[in-house]
Amino acid sequence: MNSVVKVPETGLIHDEDTGEASFRADLQPQISRLLISSTVIAERVMGLAGDIIADVRRDSSKALQLVIVLKGATVFANALAQAIFRRNGPPIRFNYIKTSSYGRDLSSSGHVDIMGQLPYVRGRDLLIVEDIVDTGLTLHELRRYLRDERKAASVSICTLLDKPTRRLPELRQTLKLDYVGFNVPDVFVAGYGIDCAEHLRELPFIVSVNEAFFAQKQESC
Ligand code: PRP
Repeated sequence: MNSVVKVPETGLIHDEDTGEASFRADLQPQISRLLISSTVIAERVMGLAGDIIADVRRDSSKALQLVIVLKGATVFANALAQAIFRRNGPPIRFNYIKTSSYGRDLSSSGHVDIMGQLPYVRGRDLLIVEDIVDTGLTLHELRRYLRDERKAASVSICTLLDKPTRRLPELRQTLKLDYVGFNVPDVFVAGYGIDCAEHLRELPFIVSVNEAFFAQKQESC
């Protein structure tokens, strides 16, 4: 894996993207600051595509089976698939799954519900595509389900964002992320598919949100 880009709380802004820092007026109250510009995201997605292709090169005729975690990862997954195409990677198959997590205790059972139809899993190499990893519970459970219950041959993980400081202590060593776009600080982020109470998914860049704004509306991220 290429070295992960670490994003400081002050954000990561390319000179040519300063336009993105002055958001549309109606969005300004919701946003604290630009964290990752669309240009930086696009460059990183191309890099991740290159890493993935290099790893599957051994059998490039085989389709790459993506397992895209709804809803947040759809924007990233589309961009990643197109980047893999542009870099002459393998054909892509899109598979979708929905998860809902309850509670934050690894020892309690039933804390992550997994919903959706994945008809062909047994014996396949899968790449889970996530938008963000926080406690790690969702991916821990999804990987266990696909590998142990559905008997996938292998399960790799690609996430656009990781918040390593939020990881459950018991998952710090065991939850291996194969491809990570950016390490982000422990702030509420949104954009590029990631929501804050269903707001801001459509932003083409990633921001830290103004928590006070959403608290006032009684909508927590
Ligand atoms: C988010 C994110 C991951 C999960 C990460 O999904 O997309 O799936 O939370 O959290 P964890 O590492 O603590 O388990 P969310 O439930 O918000 O759904 P969404 O993608 O539909 O917004």
